[in-house]
Amino acid sequence: MKRPVAYVAGTGRGIPAKVMTNHDFAALGLDTSHEWIFERTGIVERRIAAPEETTCSMAVTAAKQAMARAGVHAGELDAIVLSTATPDRLLPATAVDLQAQLGATRAAAFDLSAACTGWLYAMTVAEGLMHSGAIETALVVGAEKMSAITDWQDRSTCVLFGDGAGAVVLKRTQNGAHCGILSTFMRSDGTLAELLWRPAGGAAVPFSDAVLQDRTSYVKMAGREVFKHAVRQMSEACDRALDAAKLTGSDIDVLIPHQANNRIIEATAKHAGIPMDKVYVNVDRFGNTSSASIPIAIDEAFERGRLRPGSTALLCAFGAGFTWGSMVIRF
Ligand code: ACO
Repeated sequence: MKRPVAYVAGTGRGIPAKVMTNHDFAALGLDTSHEWIFERTGIVERRIAAPEETTCSMAVTAAKQAMARAGVHAGELDAIVLSTATPDRLLPATAVDLQAQLGATRAAAFDLSAACTGWLYAMTVAEGLMHSGAIETALVVGAEKMSAITDWQDRSTCVLFGDGAGAVVLKRTQNGAHCGILSTFMRSDGTLAELLWRPAGGAAVPFSDAVLQDRTSYVKMAGREVFKHAVRQMSEACDRALDAAKLTGSDIDVLIPHQANNRIIEATAKHAGIPMDKVYVNVDRFGNTSSASIPIAIDEAFERGRLRPGSTALLCAFGAGFTWGSMVIRF
């Protein structure tokens, strides 16, 4: 097992106050039901941002909490890495708005786009910057306003997603430390891009009246195909991170998978040989918050005593791209 170079010094989350339950979809005139959504996904409710809440504003809340818990002030941050599929605007990055609002005057700030796997990619990038000696302290945020890119007329996707942000302060370890990131794994397969994507609204097919009419700037998903790949890739991701850390499922105190769907989570845990009582699940209360889901879950798991200093956790995710990845971390 390698010596960790980076450890989590504090965690936080920024969650909208507004709760939308499965029953609330009836008011939108959608032909769906609580039973259908709950049986297939495990979701009961999700949080939806108010119009004035942005990806950045949720990130600010999460970041301030993580920094307070880590005892780190804005001037100590060397880098802000913000993963999002829902940047507040296309240029410049949402990370620089966060940098400005925190007053992190010494920090580099950039967005990272890897869909639901984005926060694990961001953690791996920040760890790499620490390994190179370039930085000592980073803020790593996953923040998503999925409600802004969801087609509220499409029952097959809009019931799945929710809004929120999670953040950690990552610090370079001192010599000899045993807590921190023990292994990482990242993969992608762009041949599968069209299974889960926003076809229009970017540089290739810019916004136009036609795009607004045909609703191709919203998320489109081939649910059944995505499901099959998700189970396979989450399982592979678990194997790879465990193997690289020279651990097995029985060494893991808590599995924190990307929160997309209960059935995918259960299949992943079974593959990794981790019983469900060691799996942290909050998809029932938040739905799929894309790259915010793992840092939100980590923050909650600490608050609820499911994670403690010394706990060894396996994190794994998959998302649009496709991208997938994993990490073993000792807190
Ligand atoms: N309410 C009622 N019926 C619905 C709804 C709904 N909300 N959505 C779809 N249906 C209907 C379909 O129209 C279809 O009807 P038909 O048989 O008459 O054509 C029927 O239900 C079955 O549809 P399927 O898509 O085959 O249903 P499935 O059992 O596969 O469940 C689901 C759909 C929940 C989306 C599942 O495929 C899934 O979880 N896929 C993975 C999705 C996922 O995790 N995506 C995110 C990953 S990446 C990221 O996090 C960004």
